[in-house]
Amino acid sequence: MGSTAELGIRLNPPPCVRNHALIAWVAEVAALTEPAQVYWCDGSVEEYDRLCQQLVEAGTFRRLNPARRPNSYLAWSDASDVARVEDRTYICSASKEQAGPTNNWMAPKEMCGILQHGQPDGTPALFKGCMRGRTMYVVPFSMGPLGSHISHVGIELSDSAYVAVNMKIMTRMGEAVYGVLGTDGAFVPCVHSVGAPLAPGQRDVSWPCNKTKYIVHYPQTREIWSYGSGYGGNALLGKKCFALRIASNMGHAAAAQSGSAPGWLAEHMLILGVASPAGKKYHVAAAFPSACGKTNFSMLVPPAGFEGWTVSTIGDDIAWIKPGADGRLYAINPEAGYFGVAPGTNLATNPNCMATLDRDVIFTNVALTDDGDVWWEGLEKDTGALPDHLIDWQGQHWTPALAAAGSTDGKLRPAAHPNARFTVAAINNPALDSAWDDPVGVPIDAFIFGGRRSSTVPLITEARDWVEGVYMAATMGSETTAAAGGKQGVVRRDPFAMLPFVGYNMSDYFQHWLDMGEKLAAAGATLPRIYTTNWFRKGADGKFVWPGYGENMRVLKWMIDRIEGRAPGHAHVFGVSPVYSEINWAGLDFSSAQFDTVTSIDKSAWQAELKLHSDLFAQLTHHLPEQLPATKARIEARLAA
Ligand code: OXD
Ligand code: MN
Repeated sequence: MGSTAELGIRLNPPPCVRNHALIAWVAEVAALTEPAQVYWCDGSVEEYDRLCQQLVEAGTFRRLNPARRPNSYLAWSDASDVARVEDRTYICSASKEQAGPTNNWMAPKEMCGILQHGQPDGTPALFKGCMRGRTMYVVPFSMGPLGSHISHVGIELSDSAYVAVNMKIMTRMGEAVYGVLGTDGAFVPCVHSVGAPLAPGQRDVSWPCNKTKYIVHYPQTREIWSYGSGYGGNALLGKKCFALRIASNMGHAAAAQSGSAPGWLAEHMLILGVASPAGKKYHVAAAFPSACGKTNFSMLVPPAGFEGWTVSTIGDDIAWIKPGADGRLYAINPEAGYFGVAPGTNLATNPNCMATLDRDVIFTNVALTDDGDVWWEGLEKDTGALPDHLIDWQGQHWTPALAAAGSTDGKLRPAAHPNARFTVAAINNPALDSAWDDPVGVPIDAFIFGGRRSSTVPLITEARDWVEGVYMAATMGSETTAAAGGKQGVVRRDPFAMLPFVGYNMSDYFQHWLDMGEKLAAAGATLPRIYTTNWFRKGADGKFVWPGYGENMRVLKWMIDRIEGRAPGHAHVFGVSPVYSEINWAGLDFSSAQFDTVTSIDKSAWQAELKLHSDLFAQLTHHLPEQLPATKARIEARLAA
């Protein structure tokens, strides 16, 4: 590999970059990937506007009608690059056992051969020369408020301007990060390439990517290497790759290094604040799988009957959680923006989100209206009618008649991709919590784990104790969504909503949660309560029974009543659920029979469900904490009674 000087690549780090390891690493990656130029991002508004304009000129972005949607853009991806690619995502820990059976694994040496160094048979490394003809953007970012003891810094090197501008919205990105790094601060190195080098004079496409994709994590060196995709979590490496897979390793290692230290947690959780009319504030962190309503729940508007209650957003996707000096668990949102699912979002399902999206948004894979604005499935609920004409996410004309043509199931061909997204800054959110950027974080009173299940799992259950809560989270099942490639609507175990995101052995992750509870309880701390929810149960007609969205406030209020000792509930085989009269029904017509439909516990369905828990445990035999099968045995005994 030649040096950057031999290759004629000028690094030109700005004077504020004083970290020698950073400069050396940028030089090393540039020498490997051979970009035409290196650009160090400063994170300014001027830079954002300039890069967006470049993306417009390159045909990647379309500027939306400023009268309808100021300062906003629309991108359409390649049809093959529309979601996270879980089957191409690897945890390359030293041993396969450390990655565990739920992750794809390859020995680091072998993966380095494929990606960075070239293979023994002479096959060149995928990253060799992969940025030719492109700019390599150096993107400095902080996950979490700058300078918070919970935050960490990352540097993403990417050959995509789309990534650079999305990272500006999604993270605290800019020159101040170089200041935090100083001369010898640590950072998580993240390398990203769309894998589409340009030959001299070659015209670029609007969404460059490569059929070959690798999303790779090296936990030992805490490096991330991503190749071939420009989409979402595959490419915005601060999000799933760093803030979940690498950070979960960091939080676990912090406990493993010292037996008595509890370490910390990196979780796929929204964080919200909820204040009672008397002004008492609670904080809840909730884990739902991808595209199961975390953004909606974090921006919930209390319905009629809840006058004086307010819900405010701290985060909508990821929480980093550490014990504070008082032993309570404090959470920060490591992100600074939302990369949310557009379809289904409307004024009824999430009015705060709709207001957030009024301006300053990057939309990806939604449809374009004739007046230069955006549209997605579900938005017709606002207007009561489908648009007459659109350009769909693949650039094709879309009318209700065209969309119906050829349909065998009566469903219209979607104009927006089901995993179409918006990228928007948290500060646009009218429901943003005043502490969302507090470096100390917010103290968590309750954890919620919620899967998408048409049957079996009741609307709400409180675990009797921490261990039963960990059991319920660990065995959670959920129907798959469009957020990841692969079949949709299939029930899979999604422990803690973290199946695609735990960066180490799942059994060790369960043990980390159990140990955390034990250590904090031993120190005299009050642990957060643990709840499981299911908003998605269907009736005999195949329709959702629970109205969801803002009405979930009724369930949230019951949790608070439990915390305050005001709701005895009724105990059942795996926890405590509300009786009908304990829910505030003011303003909602929901009968006790309907309530039974969403809360009933069917013995035989649960016997079948527990068999699936056994299957999961059989898959995870290595290190599986013995408390989990022991808890299962207790549930089985209660079921049999
Ligand atoms: C996301 C996801 O993008 O979970 O947040 O897929
Ligand atoms: Mn997510």
